[in-house]
Amino acid sequence: MDARQMKIKAAEAALAHVESGMRLGIGTGSTAEEFVRLLAEKVAGGLKVEGVPTSERTARLCLELGVPLKSLDELPELDLTIDGADEVDGALRLIKGGGGALLREKIVAAASTRMIVIADESKVVDTLGAFPLPIEVNPFGLVSTRLKIEQAASRLGLSGPLTLRQSAGENFMTDGGHFILDASFGRIPDAEALAAELYAIPGVVEHGLFINMASLAIIAGPAGARTLQPKNI
Ligand code: A5P
Repeated sequence: MDARQMKIKAAEAALAHVESGMRLGIGTGSTAEEFVRLLAEKVAGGLKVEGVPTSERTARLCLELGVPLKSLDELPELDLTIDGADEVDGALRLIKGGGGALLREKIVAAASTRMIVIADESKVVDTLGAFPLPIEVNPFGLVSTRLKIEQAASRLGLSGPLTLRQSAGENFMTDGGHFILDASFGRIPDAEALAAELYAIPGVVEHGLFINMASLAIIAGPAGARTLQPKNI
């Protein structure tokens, strides 16, 4: 089974949690896009759902495939969000934002009663941090904000380059008009402490640590899909 087939397996298993009448948060990234394709087939077959996309990219795909969309202001409370992740640990803490949509993804997940993460086995880790942590920052005061992040990380014994994300030779710009610093800490043993430190920095708009948000993870491997429930570590 190749990587794409595993993503499809996870997306198929997530689709079993979708019921007619649901208000759905729809994630961003290649795994979430497999979910959108399968969802669109169900919608064409008569499933009635309304989706709130977590990015302009996801919105375009949904519109193209005929998945009905609403804004989060029209549907401020959602039943279920299905989204991918860059890393998942045993407590279902996540790193997200590899696709740059972390701010809207977190707002949509927070508006949802449940969040299901779909991923392949390569995303499961013992300790978060091998994947560089995306930190969304306001372009104003970038140098100062970067320094504050370095100082906060250092207080927690973390270090590593903070790379300003680029796209097509320019600074990557999120849907919200912000930049992303990718923090290569290697290991983040205390994700809660880092999250608190980052929230205390005014120039940080959001960070890619999703803690206590996912209620279930569906992890696909060569042998099929398995589920992970949060366990207290
Ligand atoms: C988008 O900003 C991310 O949070 C994605 O959910 C994450 O990067 C997973 O993407 P893939 O499914 O493409 O690996």
